This record gives sequence, structure tokens and C-alpha cells, in this order.
Amino acid sequence: MSERGGIVVLDFGGQYTQLIARRVREQQVFSAILPCTASLDQIRAYEPAGVVLSGGPSSVYDSDAPVCDPRVLQLGVPVLGICYGLQWMTHTLGGRVERAQRREYGRAEFQVRDGSRLFAGIPRQFHVWNSHGDHVRQLPAGFLLTGETQNAVSAVEDPRRNLYAVEFHPEVLHTEHGTQLLRNFVLDICAAKPLWSGAAFIAETVESIRKQVGGANAICALSGGVDSAVAAALVHRAIGDRLANIFVDTGLLRKDEFSQTLELLRDRLSLKVIGVNASDRFLASLNGVTDPEEKRKRIGAEFITVFDEKALELAAGSERAMFLVQGTLYPDVIESVSVRGPSQTIKTHHNVGGLPDNLPFKLIEPLRELFKDEVRRIGRELGLPEEMLTKHPFPGPGLAVRMIGEVTRERLDVLREADAVVVEEIRRAGLYEKVWQAFAVLLPVRSVGVMGDGRSYGFTVAVRVVDSEDAMTADWTRLPAPVLERISTRIVNEVRGVNRVVYDISSKPPSTIEWE
Ligand code: XMP
Repeated sequence: MSERGGIVVLDFGGQYTQLIARRVREQQVFSAILPCTASLDQIRAYEPAGVVLSGGPSSVYDSDAPVCDPRVLQLGVPVLGICYGLQWMTHTLGGRVERAQRREYGRAEFQVRDGSRLFAGIPRQFHVWNSHGDHVRQLPAGFLLTGETQNAVSAVEDPRRNLYAVEFHPEVLHTEHGTQLLRNFVLDICAAKPLWSGAAFIAETVESIRKQVGGANAICALSGGVDSAVAAALVHRAIGDRLANIFVDTGLLRKDEFSQTLELLRDRLSLKVIGVNASDRFLASLNGVTDPEEKRKRIGAEFITVFDEKALELAAGSERAMFLVQGTLYPDVIESVSVRGPSQTIKTHHNVGGLPDNLPFKLIEPLRELFKDEVRRIGRELGLPEEMLTKHPFPGPGLAVRMIGEVTRERLDVLREADAVVVEEIRRAGLYEKVWQAFAVLLPVRSVGVMGDGRSYGFTVAVRVVDSEDAMTADWTRLPAPVLERISTRIVNEVRGVNRVVYDISSKPPSTIEWE
């Protein structure tokens, strides 16, 4: 199995831990992140070809400094310590780590000191990205200095014990040749085989779903987004029409989204999809509600009720256990892991807006080891159309959280039209796949305008377009003026009741991407 023979990353709470796993996977080698408190058995279960010790915010001298089982250094596979990983390794093996006067942060010039395999094919001098407080003052017995910055120890190793460590962060793009360094560790030093591919993942996942489900049935809640569609397509490949998909029209979807998604998944991908038109129910439950949290709560509760009804209807007459398919992704599962150890919070049911735990389902989460870009790759290999794979993210509560104030049918119609103009113009400008999200927000603000010979008193639409890598941070997109102009002119001309368009120029943080 391609999940064996990969790299286990032990997390000391570093902000770049996920990036380490990504960079390893970019070498077609599987990588799993475990909390640093993971037991040796948990680590061994992956039969890793190597272990990486991540960075972390602590000092080895902190009273609550995170530690892992020192026997990790004797597993018989190569270990690479990064930043705190280096300090922990040095400290644990009898070297001396000293608190620095101040944190060393940012770019530094690194000089290779020795013919380490870690630096094969890399110039002897290059720029690295640092972020650490402590320094190594004395190496443990058996260790060599393999690189330094100015006067600080920056890379050490004991090649006989297969222990390697760097103080900088090879996983961030600011470190030159960082990818080559990680490749040297993974493919050369650990001799991991690049077996982690889309095709292998699909074959193995389909096989294991078949085994897990046996002759039983499964259901899946489609959101219209990429994750649930790819999860459904995978499970469909494994068990065919024993998977039923439920797609609920909440009345809060984007223009034509319900019909287009149904057509795409049902007719083009041959999934069994039960479309449920529940917009009246959702609207009724939102009647008079203006508080954003309350909107989310009511939508979540309504969703559960509708889904539950359909699921029970489907299960009627069948004695077999039912499985629930979810498009949970890796970042959902390991989000802010891990120094907290086994008590880590796991966001289950994220994609269906919080299904209760007592539903009589066992979960199938075929994407729980993948990152978003990997999900897209798998989706592509499964034959999902590009338009589905490149779709912008959309919040579960839909347009309800993109309209400040009350949710009414009329206001939804206005927002849907304005949003469609934004998306159309962004597509026409060739920007749809370059930006992270582009959408309209309906404000409850009215202002005076002139239309023809008359005075208007209409609503305001805010346009939000952002660039982002992972939605954790985002910057407003510097759209070309002609694109902004077309969006504004078309919305005011084509969407009744709107006479003013503004462009949101706030970044995240401190703003969020969505307005509610
Ligand atoms: P914020 O507004 O927090 O959004 O900057 C970050 C990303 O998450 C999406 N988002 C949601 N997705 N259910 C979801 O599935 C939600 O309730 C939800 N709220 C925000 C948002 O579109 C952005 O991509």
C-alpha cells in the first residue's frame, strides 16, 4: 500500500508542519502528520521510510516543552529534525542548546560546511528562512557540523545513526533549494519510493471501501462543491448505485447551481442523485432572522431534518447498516493538531453542517488524508469535469451569509443576479481560476441615485474578490479597472433595485473573506 513506506512527520506545534507533509507528497511519497506524543506503535503502523521532527514555538527549556519518545531516534530509519526538531534532538542526545538573546527571524545566509548527502546538488551558499529562539552551542557525541549561518550552528548530523537536522525551514519557499533538500532526505537518505500517485490512491481507496461496505448501502450529502463530489465519485466507483446521493436545494445556492450540479453529477457522471427542493422550508425557518450565527444555526438544523428524513426514507425496508460518505479533508482532521496529543479536536461532519453523532451511520471519509489540490487531482483522474473541479468555495449556509440582514426570496433573487454578473465578468477576464473567490454581497444600505430622469433610492452591492492559498489569509485582488467597471455597470443596469456597487478592499486578517 502506498501509505506504507512514506514519511511520518511528528508535530511539535509548528506553523509549517502541514507544509512539510505537502512538500514530501510533492515527491510522490505519502506523508502523515502525527502528534509528537504519538506512540512508537502508532508510528510503526505506517512502516515509515523516515521521520521528520517539525518545528514548534517552544524552547526545549520551557516547563511544558513538547517532547516525543526518544526511541524515535532509534527506530532504524533516518530522522530529520527541523528547527525545534533540531533543538530537541540535540538536547535529548546530550548536546547543549542555549536560549538566544532574541528570536532569529527571517532570511539568513547559509554556508554548507561538509559534504552532507542532505545538501547534494545544492550550492555551498544559499539563503534560508529562520524562525527560532534557541541556538545549539555544543553538538552531541558523534555529530558533525554540516552548515552554519554567520556564527550560528545551522545544520548538524550523525550519518552513522542516520540523524540529520537543520535549524532553518526547508519547507517554506523563502528557503532556496529547500525542496531539493527535502528530496535528498526523502528519496536518497530514506530511499522512499515515489509510489504516492493519484492512480494508486484511487485503486487502493476503491478496494478498501468495497471491503468496508460489503453488501451494504451508503448515502452522501452533496454540497455542490468539489470535496463531496469527489468523495461521492470515489465511493460510486467502489459500490456503484448502492451509493445514493442527496442534494438539497436550500434556496440559498448560486444562480442555476442546483440544476447544473444535478445535471453534471447525475447525467454526466451517472451518480444516483436524489434532488430535494426544500427552499420553502429553509426560507420559512429564516423568517425574520438577522443575526449571522442564528442564520447558520437554523440552516444547519433544517439541513439535518431534511437529510434525516430522506435518509430514513431510503433506509426503510432495508436491514443492512448504512454508511455516510463525507468529503472531510486532511486539514479538517489535523487542524491545529497535535502537541495537545490524543485530545486533538477533530472536525467531523464539517461538510454537512453538523450532523448529530447519534445518526445510525458509520462514516466513510475517503479524502481524509488529502489536501485540496490533491482532491482536485483525484477528481480529474476520476473524470470529473473541470468546471466542478475549479469551482470557488462556497459556504454551507450559502447566500444567507452573503446578505446582511433578513433573508427573503426577493433579496435572494437580487443577490443571485448580482453574483452571477460578478462571476461571469471574472470568467470573461480569464481570472476565475486565478483568484480564490469572487462573489457579491447584498448590503441593507440604501442610497440616492439618478436613473434616467428620475431619482432612485436603491440598495448597495459589495463585490468581494480575493487571492489566497488556503483561506487562512487572503488579500483583496487588484482587479483591472475595466473589469471593475463592467461589473459595476452591468449590476446597476441589470439588477433591479441596486443603484450602487462598492469594491471590498480589506484583507484577511483582520477582515474575513465572507461578510457574516
Ligand atoms: P472566512 O469568511 O472565515 O472564510 O474568511 C474562509 C473560507 O471558508 C469558507 N466558509 C465556509 N465554508 N461552511 C463552509 O463550508 C461555512 O459555514 C463557511 N463559512 C466560510 C469561505 O467561503 C472561505 O473560503
